[in-house]
Amino acid sequence: VIDRPILLDRNENQYGPAPGCLDVLRETKLQELSLYSRDYERKVKSKLSQRLAEDLNLPEDCILLSYGSEDMLKQAIHCYLKPGEKILIPDFSWWYYKSVASEVDGQSIEYPIEERDNRFAHNINEIVKLLKIHQPKILLIASPNNPTGNSFPQEDLRALLKQAPETLVILDEAYKGFTDEEVDSTQLVNVSDTLLVLRTFSKLYALAGARIGYACAGKRLSRLTTFSTRYLGYNLLSEKLAMAALDSADYYDEVRRRTVAERERYQREFNGLQDWKTYDSDANFLLVKIPEESKASLKHWMQKRRIALKFFDEERLSSYVRITVGTEAQNDILLSAVKEFAELPNPVETILRR
Ligand SMILES: Cc1ncc(COP(=O)(O)O)c(C=O)c1O
Repeated sequence: VIDRPILLDRNENQYGPAPGCLDVLRETKLQELSLYSRDYERKVKSKLSQRLAEDLNLPEDCILLSYGSEDMLKQAIHCYLKPGEKILIPDFSWWYYKSVASEVDGQSIEYPIEERDNRFAHNINEIVKLLKIHQPKILLIASPNNPTGNSFPQEDLRALLKQAPETLVILDEAYKGFTDEEVDSTQLVNVSDTLLVLRTFSKLYALAGARIGYACAGKRLSRLTTFSTRYLGYNLLSEKLAMAALDSADYYDEVRRRTVAERERYQREFNGLQDWKTYDSDANFLLVKIPEESKASLKHWMQKRRIALKFFDEERLSSYVRITVGTEAQNDILLSAVKEFAELPNPVETILRR
């Protein structure tokens, strides 16, 4: 039996964390929670930052920890963007970028993410042009981008970093880990000292509720390092969960394999519906274009079945729906609800009657 509601609207990982995370919860002694960390005495932020530094082969002081990557994004923008200064963000993007920039009275300038056949793509020439015109303080790149699902090619990133040596480049990699072709961008902090790579345990590692993320920071970002470092430590339980996740590579390889297979199934099935179109994605969700006139009725149809999908309020996204890849069983339910909907002779009228 599948629990309802089926939540496919916020790109959470429905496969759940590795069993090793449950062992952490079982084995943590209550008494441990009453203590602050003493890791600063060893001149490191924490055991997790040390572990990540070892895994990524970076100095520990490049690794910053945060309450999810949302938190590090906010800290970086609050730390560097002054009122009236500009931040370049993708036009199709996570709404939160603009919202944080406006908290500090920054000015958001959008660069286009272009639709090319059945995928979206960044246009590096356009970004370079806008960098020259606007001289922004911050350039934000999400790879894979939410909601379009496309990655930013590594060679373009290297080229861009060369073009923008004075710009803080924030690379949001929240959805890293859901493709077979992975490159490690964290190593670029060795060549670009104004690069900040944001990572999270929320998506691939399925620890969104534990609120734990990290960043790799280039050497010139020492102001952010000081700003974000917590003398009394971080959330001990979340850190232990993150380390148990890092120890469970086989489990997450399997999550990746199943997510990719299910994402491909979604694409085949949705593309088979009249006037539905999907876009290639490297993330655990798909952006789907649907006939605009069926949006309200589809929303209603899904709500009645207690299946949550992401519909957008923004004008330019009004004929798209973003669907998180769930477990096989959840996806079966979603797909049969969608097919039933698509086969209705006149969805709008029928739905008013049901
Ligand atoms: C593009 C993107 N970046 C970052 C986040 C933040 O995730 P968290 O704060 O859980 O790490 C999200 C959440 O959905 C997201 O869509």
